[in-house]
Amino acid sequence: MMKRYILTILLAFSSSQLIAEEKFEGLQLASAPINYTDMASIKRGATFFATNCMSCHTLSYLRYDKVAKEAGIDPNQKPISLNGVIPPDLSLEADVRGVDWIYTYLHSFYKDPATPSGVNNLVFPGTAMPAILSPYQGEQVLVEKPVRDLFGYLQWYDLVVPTKQGTMTPEQFDTVTADLVNFLAYAAAPYRAEQERLGYWVLGFLVILFVLMYLLKKEYWKDVETHRKK
Ligand code: HEC
Repeated sequence: MMKRYILTILLAFSSSQLIAEEKFEGLQLASAPINYTDMASIKRGATFFATNCMSCHTLSYLRYDKVAKEAGIDPNQKPISLNGVIPPDLSLEADVRGVDWIYTYLHSFYKDPATPSGVNNLVFPGTAMPAILSPYQGEQVLVEKPVRDLFGYLQWYDLVVPTKQGTMTPEQFDTVTADLVNFLAYAAAPYRAEQERLGYWVLGFLVILFVLMYLLKKEYWKDVETHRKK
């Protein structure tokens, strides 16, 4: 019983944190259009990360890696502090938050004069990270009355409207952020593509083994059965 109470209280807290503002209720994470085996995208993401994110974020848990090394990512970099907030290490971010969360986060900064940085974020309300991608994406503000779909759901782009154009088109920005997320997914699990490939071989092998074992079993029992019938 006690356990149930504690759980209810914890749930109440977590859901109130998730939906910090009622008008964001029903917000769905955009699905990150990434492909774990697309090395060209991962490399582009690494290069973009080295020039745009490494000034603040570390990747300390990334093992010695050719992709990161080629992009100029230094695993020994020290994190810098922004008004007391240390930008988190992002080596395992794709596992912690999930790729869809990061993809949506990078898209959903909006201008908010009420915060110290002048911006806020739809999936991470009150984030201390500045909107460092806004020169590319452009600037956006919250809409007054978001239009929900039939089920009451909202996408990040239903909640904001652009107020200033960036240097990239929305399609270019989608690609760049997908590359970034793909690189972060790779950083968290560099051998994923290889493991998946190997997984199919192992499954295929098990299927063949099963068929062989079955035939073998039939062969063995044939004698026993004919013996029994006699
Ligand atoms: C000017 C410094 C700065 C730069 C540059 C920067 N960030 Fe951040 N970032 C932060 C800070 C500070 C936080 C922590 C926010 C908080 O906890 O309120 C953060 C948080 C994050 C988070 C969420 C971490 C969490 O809590 O799960 C992600 C993801 C992220 N940054 C990705 C990026 C990416 C990708 C880039 C490059 C395109 C980037 N950041 C560039 C400062 C920066």
